[in-house]
Amino acid sequence: METSWGGFCTRRPPLVLGWDVAGTVEAFGDGVTDIDEGAAVWGHLAYSPSQKQGAFAEYVTLPRTALAAKPDDVTYQVAAAAATVAMTSLQSLRDLGRLGEGGKALVIGAGGGIGSVAVGIGKRLGGHVTGACSTKDVERVEALGADAVIDRRTSDPLAAESAYDVVFDTPAVHSFGRCAKVLRAGGSYVTTLPDVALITGMARALFTSKRCHFVQVASKRADLELVGGWLGNGLEVTIDSRHKVADLVVALKRRTDRGRAGRVVVDVADGWPS
Ligand SMILES: NC(=O)c1ccc[n+]([C@@H]2O[C@H](COP(=O)([O-])OP(=O)(O)OC[C@H]3O[C@@H](n4cnc5c(N)ncnc54)[C@H](OP(=O)(O)O)[C@@H]3O)[C@@H](O)[C@H]2O)c1
Repeated sequence: METSWGGFCTRRPPLVLGWDVAGTVEAFGDGVTDIDEGAAVWGHLAYSPSQKQGAFAEYVTLPRTALAAKPDDVTYQVAAAAATVAMTSLQSLRDLGRLGEGGKALVIGAGGGIGSVAVGIGKRLGGHVTGACSTKDVERVEALGADAVIDRRTSDPLAAESAYDVVFDTPAVHSFGRCAKVLRAGGSYVTTLPDVALITGMARALFTSKRCHFVQVASKRADLELVGGWLGNGLEVTIDSRHKVADLVVALKRRTDRGRAGRVVVDVADGWPS
């Protein structure tokens, strides 16, 4: 069984693990006219309990609308590391948080997979980005371009006298109730997990000028093309380690390692051992 979003996207056996994909087109269906065999593409599988595919396989099928051309100057590893986390960040900050030029964002978990790329995406949307992370990640988050960094081990990110347009709670450890006090009127709280706190937050938000959202990431061609351009132009995705698919157990253990910094990439190009 593989779970994601706190169990919401639980997939049952038989299953193949993995969500992000970067590779080449082997074949395409009738009606697809704008892609060639052998083209380099990237995207991610739809997060859904009914998802039967997994990215740690040599072949997957995706709708054309969920794939974009991989820019030549972006490696397969970076594209695979970026797909879900960058889409989640863009769709949270731009679509739900309406972050734009001059807006202010607080990214909680800024040292993590989603949070670290959210810092760079928030900057590219024209925002002023504050990242909250653990002491070990402070320098890295500064280097990613955050305008301000709060060390969550020594200061409460929600105690500051700040007014944000969006609070992006990437590890879903806070709640609308706690974050509302640092949101401007019209501002948004965005979380990554659909839990009880979300339902309570959405109900409370009805009686305030602030909004409470859950992001449900989707692999969208236009968004992938936008982020692909940014990746080729300096947007950083932190890669912790790369593993051959034959070492998948090591890779999966690394994903839960407390010392991990960034994304764990699994390379299936050499195939599974026979
Ligand atoms: N809804 C969607 O569409 C969607 C899409 C993709 C992923 N997700 C979900 O999003 C979540 C985050 O994914 P991720 O890849 O960013 O995970 P990750 O790489 O493990 O990063 C999580 C970050 O949160 C920080 N953190 C943990 N506990 C914290 C706390 N109590 N207070 C503040 N920060 C804390 C961690 O750093 P420190 O503990 O070191 O500070 C870490 O940097 C996962 O649950 C994933 O399933 C949702």
